[in-house]
Amino acid sequence: KTTTTTGKCPVMHGGATKSSMSNMGWWPKALNLDILHQHDSKTNPMGANFNYRETLKDLDMAALKTDMHALMTDSQDWWPADWGHYGGLMIRMTWHAAGTYRIADGRGGAATGNQRFTPINSWPDNANLDKARRLLWPIKKKYGNKLSWADLIAYAGTVAYQSMGLKTFGFAFGREDIWQPEIDTYWGAEKEWLAPSGSEGSRYSGERDLENPLAAVMMGLIYVNPEGVDGKPDPLKTAHDIRVTFERMAMNDEETVALTAGGHTVGKCHGNGDASQIGPEPEAGDITEQGLGWNNKTKRGIGRDTITSGIEGAWTTHPTQWDNGYFSMLLNHEWELKKSPAGAWQWQPINIKEEHKPVDVEDATKRQTPIMTDADMAMKMDPAYREISERFSNDPEYFSDVFARAWFKLTHRDMGPKARYIGKEVPQEDLIWQDPVPAGNTGYDIDSVKKKIAASGLSVSEMVATAWDSARTYRNSDKRGGANGARIRLAPQKDWQGNEPARLTKVLSVLESIATSSGASIADVIVLAGNVGIEQSAKAAGFEVTVSFSPGRGDATDEMTDVDSFEVLEPTHDAYRNWLKADYVVSAEELMLDRSQLMGLTAHQMTVLIGGMRMLGTNYDGTKHGVFTEREGVLSNDYFVNLTDMNYTWEPVSDNLYEMRHRQSNEVKWTATRVDLIFGSNSILRSYAEVYAQDDNQEKFVADFVTAWASVMNADRFDLV
Ligand code: HEM
Repeated sequence: KTTTTTGKCPVMHGGATKSSMSNMGWWPKALNLDILHQHDSKTNPMGANFNYRETLKDLDMAALKTDMHALMTDSQDWWPADWGHYGGLMIRMTWHAAGTYRIADGRGGAATGNQRFTPINSWPDNANLDKARRLLWPIKKKYGNKLSWADLIAYAGTVAYQSMGLKTFGFAFGREDIWQPEIDTYWGAEKEWLAPSGSEGSRYSGERDLENPLAAVMMGLIYVNPEGVDGKPDPLKTAHDIRVTFERMAMNDEETVALTAGGHTVGKCHGNGDASQIGPEPEAGDITEQGLGWNNKTKRGIGRDTITSGIEGAWTTHPTQWDNGYFSMLLNHEWELKKSPAGAWQWQPINIKEEHKPVDVEDATKRQTPIMTDADMAMKMDPAYREISERFSNDPEYFSDVFARAWFKLTHRDMGPKARYIGKEVPQEDLIWQDPVPAGNTGYDIDSVKKKIAASGLSVSEMVATAWDSARTYRNSDKRGGANGARIRLAPQKDWQGNEPARLTKVLSVLESIATSSGASIADVIVLAGNVGIEQSAKAAGFEVTVSFSPGRGDATDEMTDVDSFEVLEPTHDAYRNWLKADYVVSAEELMLDRSQLMGLTAHQMTVLIGGMRMLGTNYDGTKHGVFTEREGVLSNDYFVNLTDMNYTWEPVSDNLYEMRHRQSNEVKWTATRVDLIFGSNSILRSYAEVYAQDDNQEKFVADFVTAWASVMNADRFDLV
């Protein structure tokens, strides 16, 4: 007789196996330090010794390519290929993976395989891309660890284009998978999918100003609304949205027209049926759906009865061929607004010859009416886009070349410098958006350079602040910025306010002459100077340390630098140098957190770097905020000792300024900003501050500081591996 099947829950209520109110839910103002610790080794099933980029070297790329080509035309009954070719679907999947990239913070993009996880796997705009990934599963299964999902998703669209006749520009492997949803990326504040502008949390203000860093017009879309702004067709208004959003994806007008036209040269829109019968997105799906979503319960719901966007029809006469048919269709017909069978707005030709219509996806004896979305109509109606469309229309080879290059940029821009590219199809040509850096000399005498720096008369703060400034632009999101290339000496960086141009010019003139006389790159000498400063200040604290150093950074030139594209890397705040360029709506500590995440730092690295740098006099403009020590220039743990000392109290003076007063005398001892106080007030950061304040951890403090420092200096050394 069993006594345990009374229906009592074996997991206690209040167990945390399902999401409940999180700490962030209870205390919404708390810092979300978790963003510094995502993709922890515990989430990664491959273990610490697995190196994807090494494993890739064993990938049989030729066999993979053959298999991928075969897959394109191997139609499966459970999700049949339109016209027997999966090209359109695969390209849309790749484009939607890459198209989330935005220049402002470098986040989004195809480089992590994030399309497998929430929220992206379930965005309304990604409907039925779950099928594309599931179709690729046999390939992923076969090539296993040698092929990441991220690379496979990016590669699928490229092979699809090759298979349909485009001469592609190249392809690079090397994207490593994540194993959990990303939590660092801000996708907007709306509470509903596809909420129109003006709803709660709207990303628009003023005259349709899109909130930064966002690059999509609605929550859950990749770029613009295909039916028109907020669903109201008007190609000129849509053109405005396209221009803004594609610029934020690093694309100019010509690239934008090429991409949109080249994208819609193949494949079709799906909206043949009653959209109200579509089931929930994958993440909300029933357990029996096995991770698939948008189950269409109308008729068969597949093939010609598929509903994806709700718009119905192809753009060209031959949608499985790379050709110029998009422009002849768009420019040679007049178009009128109609509703699709699923009720979406679409443009249809007023007059079209039967032979110009594409055939039905399942029955080649029937022909169907082609369509244009509001975004396609923008390519004809917007004067600047139209001029480009006409040029492409008249010069198919030019169009193919511009498209192939723009597609390569779209799918590789988030991978960082060329040193990160792997594979046989990597293009030789250097492209300006790759921020090229020439290889540097490794064969010079490092010790003698360090001696020259030490004898140069530069102060610890000058050396350390300059090295920091040259490295701090690095962002792990799209691997741009960093000390390599020494772009700090070029426009626009040399003039950035945050780089204190007067000090920078002075320090650089000393370091440049040392570089010239010793055969080292300026980039290396800048980093070495920081190391000299830190070694001197550690010695003053009683610790002999050598900061690890790898020579070989190169010096970029003006010709290698796209000045405009560097503007997004300008620091507008830097907690490490206790500086804000202006007053921001976002608190100084949140800005610190966001920047630290982009630099790839953990919370305890952030802690030790802040506390250490305060001791070295590296504050912007030499302010004394947070310099809790009597012995500036000594790498001591005084910052943490004094911050955690109960002899002091903190009083606000203004928004971002506080005084530390002695409890008994009420005498003002030090001043500080929010980014200092947060290390005493946030419970997690305080726990780290206490570690470094402990009597037994002075040496650990120095060692951890030195390690964290070196990792910042080397963050962009992809040439080292
Ligand atoms: C399909 C909109 C840009 C490639 C679609 C669909 C829509 C759409 C509504 C139909 C989805 C469906 O119902 O199956 C847009 C808009 C764009 C844009 C508003 C921005 C202006 C691009 C770009 C590319 C691209 C840049 C690639 C370079 C494709 C492809 C399909 C497609 C290949 C066909 C999918 C299939 O055959 O299943 N697009 N698109 N699109 N899009 Fe775009």
